[in-house]
Amino acid sequence: MTDPIQPLRNGNWFRSAVFYEIPVRSFFDSNGDGIGDLPGVTAKLDYLADLGVGAVWLLPYYPSPWRDEGYDVADHYAIHPQLGTIGDLDRLVEEAHRRGIRVLGDYVMNHVSTDHPWFQEARRDRSSPFRSWFLWSDTGTEFSRARVIFRDSEGSNWSWDPVAGQYFFHRFTATQADLNYDTPAVRAEMLNVARFWLGHGLDGYRCDAVPYLVKREGTRCQSLPEVHRYFRELRALLDREFPGTVLVAEANQSIPETVPYFGDGREFQMVMHFPLMPNLFLALGEEDPRRVRHVLRATLPAPGATSWAYFLRNHDEVTGEQLSDDEREMLLWFYGRHPRAVLNGGLRRRLAPMLDGDDRRIEMMTALLLGLPGAPFLYYGDEIGMGDRPDLPDRDGVRTPMQWSDGPTAGFSTAPDDRLVRPLVTEPRFGPAARSVEGETGRPGSLLERCRTLLRVRNARAEAFSSPLFEALETPGAPVLAFVRPGASEHVLCLYNFASTVADVQVRVPAWSAPNPTDLLDRGIALHVVDGALGCRLDPFGFAWVGFPPVPTDPGAATRDPG
Ligand code: NOJ
Ligand code: CA
Repeated sequence: MTDPIQPLRNGNWFRSAVFYEIPVRSFFDSNGDGIGDLPGVTAKLDYLADLGVGAVWLLPYYPSPWRDEGYDVADHYAIHPQLGTIGDLDRLVEEAHRRGIRVLGDYVMNHVSTDHPWFQEARRDRSSPFRSWFLWSDTGTEFSRARVIFRDSEGSNWSWDPVAGQYFFHRFTATQADLNYDTPAVRAEMLNVARFWLGHGLDGYRCDAVPYLVKREGTRCQSLPEVHRYFRELRALLDREFPGTVLVAEANQSIPETVPYFGDGREFQMVMHFPLMPNLFLALGEEDPRRVRHVLRATLPAPGATSWAYFLRNHDEVTGEQLSDDEREMLLWFYGRHPRAVLNGGLRRRLAPMLDGDDRRIEMMTALLLGLPGAPFLYYGDEIGMGDRPDLPDRDGVRTPMQWSDGPTAGFSTAPDDRLVRPLVTEPRFGPAARSVEGETGRPGSLLERCRTLLRVRNARAEAFSSPLFEALETPGAPVLAFVRPGASEHVLCLYNFASTVADVQVRVPAWSAPNPTDLLDRGIALHVVDGALGCRLDPFGFAWVGFPPVPTDPGAATRDPG
């Protein structure tokens, strides 16, 4: 197979791409069994290309009993038969690459399903070589400082296994047994797993639950030095055998604990920024962007050729883990009014219902995500403002079938409604009659068309938007977040009004700015530059991207340091 992406695989592609997250089972069903599948993703690549997406992240597609949306892997070297075949994945990758879209898989290395043959062997026989692949205890009291993550469903990180006659350790659900990374064979096998799918052309992985691989008594069992060592080894393997492929860390930790995952350029090229996300929603609720400016200033620039990864929503709950107790309470007060909204201290809601279906705020938050100094990750369906089902168990409510049209099954499948992987959104404001790809395509002013415009303008200015350079500006007295993304041929000033009222904003623009800015999104905003300050008026929840050609003499005055 000649792979058209190879020539495109420069080392930095991930810094300019807009990423799009896809739970495969919920995206599009190609064969009428009611379950989304890999050929279904392939069938929708043109939609994604038109939207301006540069990379997709596929949620786990492995054989699995689906007790945790496939994050309970029962065979790392195969594809769940309901989702397709390895040939289907090869075709997806080839077709995606043909359109200039990269494909990331999900590398689930911390744990396996308790259905996995490794665990089945291990539990049955104490002398099995697989016994040491897991963590066992006679008392279930060890590692007591490791917090329980799924605190609404799990009482402990240890569960009794009657077949093994011992407790086994699991950081997530009791159907996901943690692997023992002190066993060399485990490390070797999991490196092979990584190799396997990159060999099928994947452009990298989003890596699941990275901080938890190694456990040590007396510690919180997260982010230990051995964890970093493993990922440095993995990264070296990628650089050697699959150059140009990337690793994205899912590490839901504070900024200081997260930064080391860049490993000074020797671990992950991208690290998800968990602390910012809930602060974006809090700031919007407060109609005051100061906390966002604060977090961004506290965020060190990603070192070397690496990048932060930002997101508004994903397939999990809006986690409040990186907030103080007071902040978390405020988050739930703003957005947790639905009686079933709260899960594990976070919110199982999608973007549009959280923001009460207010397209101004949805669009502003999307424009903010796309403007931040890092790679933006969109969550499927948020571009059309689709809704959720908090009445469903666990996090299923944010993983309902993609709304392609307002026809039967929202155009997701030819199966009858009662055979769909999950029920459709029924709330009229967010269901398929109000929100669908077909209904919004070509409709002026629709959220989808607005998002398409944002991606188009951003992609056309990839140079400024993909640079790690960033400078937050003061906006005295105005509820406006302002920052500059400096580029060699153009600097972009991003302005976001967090308030429900009109905001007149004055920002002192850095010395390099030429006096003739342009409103890049053509939103009819009058811009005035007087004495080194730019003034403009933003609508309630309005925003602007302002392009400045740099003055010829001093193009590089914006600092790399966001402080
Ligand atoms: C993080 C994933 O995003 C989540 O969906 C999953 O339940 C846990 N890791 C365990 O794999
Ligand atoms: Ca199917």
